[in-house]
Amino acid sequence: MRRSFIAGNWKMHKTPAEAKALAEELKAGLAGCGHKILIAPSFTALESVASVVKGSNILLGAQNMATVEQGAHTGETSVLMLKAIGVDAVILGHSERRHVYGETDEMINEKVKLALANGLEAILCVGETLDERESGKAESVVKTQTEAGLKGVSEAELDKVTIAYEPVWAIGTGKTATPDDADQIHKVTRDTVKSLYSEDAAEKMVIQYGGSVKPENAAQLMGMENIDGALVGGASLKADLFLPIAEYDK
Ligand code: 13P
Repeated sequence: MRRSFIAGNWKMHKTPAEAKALAEELKAGLAGCGHKILIAPSFTALESVASVVKGSNILLGAQNMATVEQGAHTGETSVLMLKAIGVDAVILGHSERRHVYGETDEMINEKVKLALANGLEAILCVGETLDERESGKAESVVKTQTEAGLKGVSEAELDKVTIAYEPVWAIGTGKTATPDDADQIHKVTRDTVKSLYSEDAAEKMVIQYGGSVKPENAAQLMGMENIDGALVGGASLKADLFLPIAEYDK
């Protein structure tokens, strides 16, 4: 049985004080939650949120990191810095990083390997654009991004990897993939893991869905065979929306 993993990607929202206040509400609200939970504030709020979630059942995530550990990289953030302030996991290859900031599969793969080498968990995001979906390429795009993102990652390291399928056209648009459509792509992703590694690795791989997840659609999405959790954007910014998603089965 794969354990449900619900993550909140706060994107570029919330000052450190606002982030801390939300983290406190979530910590209180999720104290008895049996799912794996992660929140990913912006870099400037990581420390204030770390002080709240330390020792709780909420993991701390970052939204990105540099491809290398240190050096002359103005504006970048190193895995060593994230580790030092208690970050547990890092979201990598988010579609906004790929499509707005030009991150390539190669860069994302470097980041995945660097995170794992430093003991952090990685959430590898994959997903097709609307054009790609409409031209029938959704499956091949997700397969290619999964293969490229995991290149050089050993099967033993996979227990620190989560894959998040986020169709770009469903992010922040209010449009959600139907549970059947999402499950179909999750199955393709799982089959890709199987062909790269093994049946066992594929069975164990936690694959989140992301794209306009809300309290109203969370249970139905999570009920699908291959959907093991959610990567939530907009609805993760308010406790009264994120709590029912995190506890979708209550
Ligand atoms: P929304 O939930 O706002 O559509 O964002 C999804 C997302 O990009 C999470 O990483």
